[in-house]
Amino acid sequence: MTQRYSRLARVYHEMYQSIFDYAADFRFFDQYLKKYHCHSILDSGGGSSNLTPYFIKNRYAYTGLDLAVEMLQIARDLHPDVNFIQGDMRACCVNQAFDAVIISGRSFTYMTTNDEVLNALKSIHSCLKPDGILIFDNFNAETIFLNFKPAAVLTIEQGTTHDKRVSQSTRNLETGWTWNWQATY
Ligand SMILES: C[S@@+](CC[C@H](N)C(=O)[O-])C[C@H]1O[C@@H](n2cnc3c(N)ncnc32)[C@H](O)[C@@H]1O
Repeated sequence: MTQRYSRLARVYHEMYQSIFDYAADFRFFDQYLKKYHCHSILDSGGGSSNLTPYFIKNRYAYTGLDLAVEMLQIARDLHPDVNFIQGDMRACCVNQAFDAVIISGRSFTYMTTNDEVLNALKSIHSCLKPDGILIFDNFNAETIFLNFKPAAVLTIEQGTTHDKRVSQSTRNLETGWTWNWQATY
């Protein structure tokens, strides 16, 4: 796992509020949760809780799960009344069945082999009620490759904090529609 979710957890938490449109992400999940009458949800790979306030405000019974202790610490500090579980989406570690599991912010891309994908899907299945649903987002490879950016610089200013990210991408077609991404913060 990259340092992005450990040493740089705070930087991720703040910077991604400007990179992702969390309000739009919530609307995406919410339309399906409503359609399938879901109330209890597990946000798997939920990170530092950037999406959490939307679910709380809309009265979902929300539980967050993440692998990274440092991301969870931020989540717990911000939402002391919410249940956050440290665990791996590839190996079920919750003893509760949910109406829905959601995976946001492309967390599912960390399942990089067929075995990991299968283990994660089996694990998620075991966390769901019989009619429960899984909703997840992911990269759209076509969009990425059609607008390929070999280099990018992003600067975010929040109060007295200035975060800068310099990233480089190279196509890696040997393993499919994949690319290598490296960032310095
Ligand atoms: C790009 S962040 C997305 C976080 C959050 N969903 C958001 O939208 O801000 C990816 C998250 O997936 C978590 N993650 C990666 N592999 C995981 C695994 N096997 N099980 C649980 N969480 C995982 C990371 O620790 C990180 O917090």
